[in-house]
Amino acid sequence: MKVKKLNSYKELSSTVADIVEEQLVEKVFQQLVLPTGSTPIGLYKELAKRNLNWSYVRTFNLDVYIMNPNHSQSYQTFMKENLFNRINIYPDNCHFPFRPTLAYEDKINYFGGVDLCILGIGSNGHIAFNEPGSSFKSRTRVVDLDEQTIQDNSRFFDSVDDVPKRAITMGIGTIMESKKIILMASGDHKKDILEKALNGKVTEDVPASVLQTHKNVEVYYH
Ligand code: PGA
Repeated sequence: MKVKKLNSYKELSSTVADIVEEQLVEKVFQQLVLPTGSTPIGLYKELAKRNLNWSYVRTFNLDVYIMNPNHSQSYQTFMKENLFNRINIYPDNCHFPFRPTLAYEDKINYFGGVDLCILGIGSNGHIAFNEPGSSFKSRTRVVDLDEQTIQDNSRFFDSVDDVPKRAITMGIGTIMESKKIILMASGDHKKDILEKALNGKVTEDVPASVLQTHKNVEVYYH
């Protein structure tokens, strides 16, 4: 596993943008898995500035809250505002988990699987909305959010009561089928969990620790 510490959030964002750019130049037909949250905002801003051809790229988001997709805090809205409305991607090529959840996986596989999956890490070690205790074999499914995740994400809502309690997430087993995975982490509050995930025991109590068992993972943090 390649692990690299960057000097700033800006450098973290541009380093991962360079990797995405390389992928898109190397192979125009790409399937990318994309995250939401605070961490990738700089990456998306950086990608939007670059003159890349997204016409043949298909994106699959890691997770969605179960809520109105037109809500200002839905992940569909987040992706439109931060990336999709700023690049030349076809809206029909931007996919979000849906029910029946396994049909989402069929769609990914129909297009040939995932070339690059970009992940963030939650303060409890989650990847996508696979909370601690999730099976490493889990597939795309409906989940209840952890209390810690609801608290962490309440900063985006007027009150903690407004945070959706359920979501659809790609499973850990699904994520692990990606040909390449990049994990991004930003800020001092992620240092301890990152250390556990990368150097601690591989355990379902720390979902991100599963990445130690994938053969093509790169970790970038600052
Ligand atoms: P953050 O979330 O980027 O907002 O810290 C990461 C995550 O929960 O996966």
